[in-house]
Amino acid sequence: MLTNAKWIGSPRSGVHTGAVWDYEINRVLPVYDGTAELFFAARDLDNGLRLEVDVIQGVVHFYEHTDRAWEGPRKDGFHKEVYTLGEECGYSLLGKVNIVDKCSVAVRLHVVKRAVKLWVEDALVIENAEILPENHPARPRKNYRMMEGIRQQAGEPFTLENACPGVMVKKEIIPAQGKELQKAVLYTTARGFYECYINGEKVGQEYYAPGFTDYRLRIDYQEYDVTKMVMNAEMAVFTTIVGKGYYSGFVGYSGAHIYGTENSFLGKLVFTYTDGTTEEVCTDESCLYTDKCPVLYADYLDGEYYDARLEDALADPASWMPCGVKEAPGEVIPTNGSFPEERKPVFTLTKQDYPGAKCIQVLRPVSVTEEPKGHFVYDFGQNMVGTVRITLKGKRGKSYKIRYGEMCYQNGEIYVQNLRTAANTDVYVCKGEEPETYEPSLVSHGFRYVEVTGNGYDLENGEDILSLEGLVITNIGEKVGDFSCSDPLLNKLQSNIEWGQIDNYLLTLTDCPQRNERMGWTGDAQVFAATAVFNREARAFTEKWLQDLRDAQLMYNRGGGVPDTAPLGGDNRRLTSGGWGDASVIVPWELYMEFGDKKILEDNFQMMQAWVEYQRGYESEPGIQGEQPRGDHLAYDTSTPFLLCATAYAARSADLLSRICDILGKRELAEGYHARFKEIKAAYQRKWVKEDGTLTIPTQTGYALSIDFGLLEEKHLPGAAADFLRTIEERNGHLSVGFLGISHLLPALSKLGRDDVAMSILMKKENPGWLYSVLNGATTIWERWNSYIAETDTFGDVNMNSFNHYAYGAVGDWMYQNLLGIRKDAPGYEKLTLAPKPLGELTHAEGYHICPYGRIESAWKLENGKFHYHIKVPQGVTATVILPDGATYENVTEGEFTYDK
Ligand code: BGC
Repeated sequence: MLTNAKWIGSPRSGVHTGAVWDYEINRVLPVYDGTAELFFAARDLDNGLRLEVDVIQGVVHFYEHTDRAWEGPRKDGFHKEVYTLGEECGYSLLGKVNIVDKCSVAVRLHVVKRAVKLWVEDALVIENAEILPENHPARPRKNYRMMEGIRQQAGEPFTLENACPGVMVKKEIIPAQGKELQKAVLYTTARGFYECYINGEKVGQEYYAPGFTDYRLRIDYQEYDVTKMVMNAEMAVFTTIVGKGYYSGFVGYSGAHIYGTENSFLGKLVFTYTDGTTEEVCTDESCLYTDKCPVLYADYLDGEYYDARLEDALADPASWMPCGVKEAPGEVIPTNGSFPEERKPVFTLTKQDYPGAKCIQVLRPVSVTEEPKGHFVYDFGQNMVGTVRITLKGKRGKSYKIRYGEMCYQNGEIYVQNLRTAANTDVYVCKGEEPETYEPSLVSHGFRYVEVTGNGYDLENGEDILSLEGLVITNIGEKVGDFSCSDPLLNKLQSNIEWGQIDNYLLTLTDCPQRNERMGWTGDAQVFAATAVFNREARAFTEKWLQDLRDAQLMYNRGGGVPDTAPLGGDNRRLTSGGWGDASVIVPWELYMEFGDKKILEDNFQMMQAWVEYQRGYESEPGIQGEQPRGDHLAYDTSTPFLLCATAYAARSADLLSRICDILGKRELAEGYHARFKEIKAAYQRKWVKEDGTLTIPTQTGYALSIDFGLLEEKHLPGAAADFLRTIEERNGHLSVGFLGISHLLPALSKLGRDDVAMSILMKKENPGWLYSVLNGATTIWERWNSYIAETDTFGDVNMNSFNHYAYGAVGDWMYQNLLGIRKDAPGYEKLTLAPKPLGELTHAEGYHICPYGRIESAWKLENGKFHYHIKVPQGVTATVILPDGATYENVTEGEFTYDK
């Protein structure tokens, strides 16, 4: 569709969009109190390096400034700390200088990445010394590139002359010359995240287009009907801004430039006239480029830097120059060397076939505090993902800094340590048009709290901030289910599960949306898959992710191994592991069960089969999987061996694949994979199951997987059940599972007929348990059972302490299936069982699920010792109703029914 269009960008080649890392500063610095100072290498005015020339001692020093957005206990304070570059960082630069004039000093500083050369009064003082240790464990260094103007002591910041901002290109078109326009369609995409405008108005409602794919292999393009926007315009000015996005910006923890270094844009506008003729306008050399783009920097993980003063320059034709034409994406090179000639894939531009990221809700702050002084912290009352819209009034050049945190300390101070190296900070420089509104739209943040302060100074008061809104941005679809009951804590848990999904269905199915990770972790996706489809329309976006997973398997190029994340790129360790790679079978299966569409299985068949075959070839002994990098991730107090988890999952995948083959009419294969399932099951039993049914390594996850995946024989069940219950009792009724056990713990107990135990685990209010986070103020699902302890105002290990990980929300599936009793008996709900369970102290529960046939409702209450049940069955569905006393009603079809018992 985009044939004839050319990729366009900056006329310079080899330049990386965003801040620069090779520059020279020539300045005569004023001397105050015996020193002259210059602030450079800065991410913003609170994070950078300070050069100090001591004219009395005749020496130069370098100091590091940091607002400690990345680390450190708060007791040290995060505000305006100054660290000398000395022992701590392993770097100390001292140079002798001889200065005659004590009122001013001429310095010339050349910076190339982390190396500096310094001349003072024309004498070379420092030659090629490193100024910043790279990735010092305590202060990860990735932002040594200049993004903020250089500041001299007591002087105004000045900006770099040769900065290379976001790519901004434009083209002026006079539509419909002499003809009558019928339709105008715009096709666009970019290497980087882009936004397109026609005469200043944004095209479409999408954020972060073209989305996230493995850009080496595939880039989606978007199609917009822009007829209305150009219909009566005499002149249509098309402008595009491209930020780094995931193309050249940081991706997960793997660094930047994973897919490429230079950002560029590709577009075509097709006019159709009433006389049937068409006309195409394509991006090419005739488009204009400016280096006055107000978006000086936009890294999806780090944040945006917007200098609104530059907006004025855009009106000046002198600010625009011919753009550069960039090479189109070329050969596809997998992460693992090269493809064999016969399997070499070609790069493709594909039409986006899923709903793009959109703002679905606007939240307003519920309170604001000032902590520490000059830092205004707004609480949105809900951990959310997206961006903000802020209206400020400030003099021209006044700049503000916006930081984001999921939590606050009890004194109101924002908690940002868990973001790891993601700076998650936006800076806005006012143009002086009071009021002015800013929306950092090429970046996203995971936050409940937003701190607004000055950039390099404290705000005197909060009056500058006229309003602040939180824009919830997600790729998730409509709500298709709800659950509520007589227990407010469970209701909050349900809300937290749903928010966790809204927040993590963005660009890919992410593990978490805030720190330097936000990757499509396969394990998390598979444990949550069944819950996901109960709550929200998730098919289109999950299918998109499955395409990413197929691409990742291909790009990984290891005989069917499925990488741990998709799209591939955020995790460059190239790992694959049981429980994670099994997402390739489990996620399509769950989607198929929900929607009953065989196409889902067909589309993913090759991937699943290749994965199961890969597992067959990856054994340490017959039927037992080989070494694995991960197992029951973050298990609470006992770990289950990696090999046990991986082998159990390998059995599960083989079992599901054999059923899938059956459904697709591949009988022989079905038998083969059934035999493979039995082979793994037998090996599993030999290695880990004792005669009496107990496991040699008796963990909750071990039992949950063994029972839920059908890895035990009938004769094993009594012994296994008794020992499984013991592992719960000895923890006073608490769980101890991690990621791989979580979606099977309660279902396994229910399978054993112990709904009562399952319910009591769910209702535990202490750590570890679901309601502990609820009682500690959670508004989303936490990564750890005890990510925060309100009693002591302490946080879990900052290395992995997300407050928005949907994985443990996998319990939602059990709640729908048991407390509401909504269970599909056939793919797509053609057959349904409604078997509600009044468990624990609950006195009522109600909810619905919109399945492919329509809305299913289930509501019960206990009143005067009676069970009152109301249901709704949609057309096309045949239901079996089973009441708690066992009374069963078969063949219930469309309609609303009430049962009183
Ligand atoms: C992620 C998880 C993921 C895991 C794999 C973590 O860093 O946040 O959710 O599944 O790594 O072990």
